[in-house]
Amino acid sequence: MYRMLFNLVFRRMDPEKAHHLAFFWIRLAAAVPGLRTLVAAVLAPRDPALRTRALGLDLPGPFGLAAGFDKNAVGIDGLAMLGFDYVEIGTVTAEPQPGNPAPRLFRLIEDRALINRMGFNNEGSAAVAARLAARRDRRTVVGVNIGKTKVVPEAEAVADYIASTERLARHADYFVVNVSSPNTPGLRNLQAVDQLRPLLSAVRRTLDQASPQRHVPLLVKIAPDLADADIDQVADLALELSLDGIIATNTTIGRDGLRTDPAKVAAAGAGGLSGAPLKARALEVLGRIHSRTGDRLTLVSVGGIETADDVWQRILAGATLVQGYSAFIYEGPFWCRRLHKGLAARLRASGHGTLGEAVGASTRG
Ligand code: FNR
Repeated sequence: MYRMLFNLVFRRMDPEKAHHLAFFWIRLAAAVPGLRTLVAAVLAPRDPALRTRALGLDLPGPFGLAAGFDKNAVGIDGLAMLGFDYVEIGTVTAEPQPGNPAPRLFRLIEDRALINRMGFNNEGSAAVAARLAARRDRRTVVGVNIGKTKVVPEAEAVADYIASTERLARHADYFVVNVSSPNTPGLRNLQAVDQLRPLLSAVRRTLDQASPQRHVPLLVKIAPDLADADIDQVADLALELSLDGIIATNTTIGRDGLRTDPAKVAAAGAGGLSGAPLKARALEVLGRIHSRTGDRLTLVSVGGIETADDVWQRILAGATLVQGYSAFIYEGPFWCRRLHKGLAARLRASGHGTLGEAVGASTRG
């Protein structure tokens, strides 16, 4: 059904316009009294076997929507209605900004992939904080992902992240410092530990000041393009600073192994590649971090998730939480339902009592 809708409607539309249309429908459905409960009963059935405890939070399952879909926190309830177990909003920057000129989002259908150079288009931390503060229904776990305002020079990045943290800390179930999007010039330089240490320390301190009663878990989101030695350094830093976890990975600037006509790929231009082509590297980065940190950090795996097998594989490789974005575009509203059903079946067949027990099982020999 969705495949037909995708081919007849969305595929013929500009990808960003299609995103706005689909997101509008999702929000509309969630706003109709009774409809949200009805849709959630079909699409977000809550199998108790999948209940997940992570970052001090209780979640209905391990699978969340990755950052970038709901940049301004406008559709959290609608996305939870479709079955996402939690929603990571953002990336939010301290100041509002328009992002890069369109077109800035491209589909590579043969590769089940996307290329984007959105450039953190968002309404800014004050507007998003006000929206989160006004939420009436707080049942859905919300992660807040922050990044650097484009016009702020790299040397002033810490102050910019702190401004966002001060405004957003109290509204976040968990917090993510994004230093890995390829579409803000210089952003990924902040992944170098000499830059990352003062940044993460300052955000941690600010979270504690802004939310003295409740520990707001802090994670860092990294790029798949980091060299292995750099990944190790970030993992060591996360332990040194007592971070709560790492999200791996963001999109890649690589273009290897694509089936799509190279001329079409080249025509899309610069940007981050996501979806199926990211699968192998995202798994590899997860495995590397897990072998270094064991269960001392909560690992969130993202990149190329399409099926229940993908989610299960990440859990076995050490991920407590998993996220996806690109395959949602290709798979549609029944995606989470399929993933949850498949995951519950794999859990039962594995003999593990809970998902938590299965985390990292493939690394224990
Ligand atoms: C993203 N992603 C992203 N990540 C982030 O930390 N902040 C952001 O603002 C965005 N924006 C964004 C926009 C678009 C259009 C896409 C496709 C992706 C990256 C996303 O959260 C995720 O890390 C990657 O897309 C890899 O996961 P998938 O898409 O392969 O499941």
